[in-house]
Amino acid sequence: MQRVRLTYEAVFLSALAVLSCFAGVTSGAQSSLDVLDRSDLEEGQKLFRVHCARCHGMKGQGGEGANLNRPRLKHVTDDETLIQILSSGIPGTGMPGTRGPGEKGLLQIAGYVRSLGRLPREIPPGDAARGRVIYATKGGCPACHIVNGSGTGIGPELSDVGQRRGLEYLKESLLAPGANQPSRQGIAAYLAVRLKTGAGLIEGMRVNEDAFSIQIRDLDGTIHSFDKREIEELEKVFGHSLMPAYRIVLAEEELADVVSYLMSLKGES
Ligand code: HEC
Ligand code: HEC
Repeated sequence: MQRVRLTYEAVFLSALAVLSCFAGVTSGAQSSLDVLDRSDLEEGQKLFRVHCARCHGMKGQGGEGANLNRPRLKHVTDDETLIQILSSGIPGTGMPGTRGPGEKGLLQIAGYVRSLGRLPREIPPGDAARGRVIYATKGGCPACHIVNGSGTGIGPELSDVGQRRGLEYLKESLLAPGANQPSRQGIAAYLAVRLKTGAGLIEGMRVNEDAFSIQIRDLDGTIHSFDKREIEELEKVFGHSLMPAYRIVLAEEELADVVSYLMSLKGES
């Protein structure tokens, strides 16, 4: 780790040296990202598409990985930690370290990610207060989601979903559930399964699975464990979500209100 840091410092120093030669800049308070120019950021964008977009979306809007179009990221305190995260990942999460692009490439990606945080804020399309009511009543969302401690945790917790996800992602979650399925360590976290045993048919979400057994959470939130030998049929429905599509249930305006409510959920209750 220390060695990586040192090499970044070396890159930083040489970049600074080059800059002060050509542009006469002498400020010492710069980060290694401040010296990147436009073509570096363009290169960073290309590398981002290759190495990061499959989890963070083509424009960093989020998917399996976090939405990066935000001025403040949870794990990032400064440019240094950003570079560190890109090279080493975030232990205990689905965020892997990336070595492929090399040191220069990582700096370019980091510069591009930083520029994403400076895009204008997304404007909620509807009314969050109305959306909150629709969420709890007509939408029936608390049957499957927890917000600030209330609801049932069949789907992902939404208390900070407005922090983690961008506008487009949230819209898509309601119109086409299953299009962006969250995953843990590359394994679909909310895989819908149907299985048949001597006792009958059960549909739910896979909680855990190994070679001998599978655990499933049914729609009431109850967890069932099955020995694989007792299962007659096991169907895993990749890309299918237990979450209903809301295009018909909710009018366009109501959808916009619910999306605005979700955008307002930032993790502080
Ligand atoms: C295999 C999927 C995956 C890949 C590939 C990936 N990430 Fe991530 N990334 C994640 C996940 C998941 C998180 C959220 C970690 C958490 O907070 O639980 C994350 C978090 C982050 C964060 C911190 C966000 C925050 O809110 O603090 C940054 C920055 C980031 N990724 C940038 C990148 C960049 C840049 C690349 C490409 C070099 C990349 N990631 C590649 C999955 C991925
Ligand atoms: C029958 C259970 C169920 C209901 C009802 C339900 N959801 Fe979901 N929801 C899920 C599941 C499961 C997922 C996980 C991804 C998937 O399978 O599509 C999910 C995913 C999501 C996501 C994406 C979260 C993320 O971090 O990626 C959002 C946002 C969401 N739901 C919002 C809602 C809203 C708003 C409502 C009500 C209008 C609702 N859900 C109703 C089960 C449900």
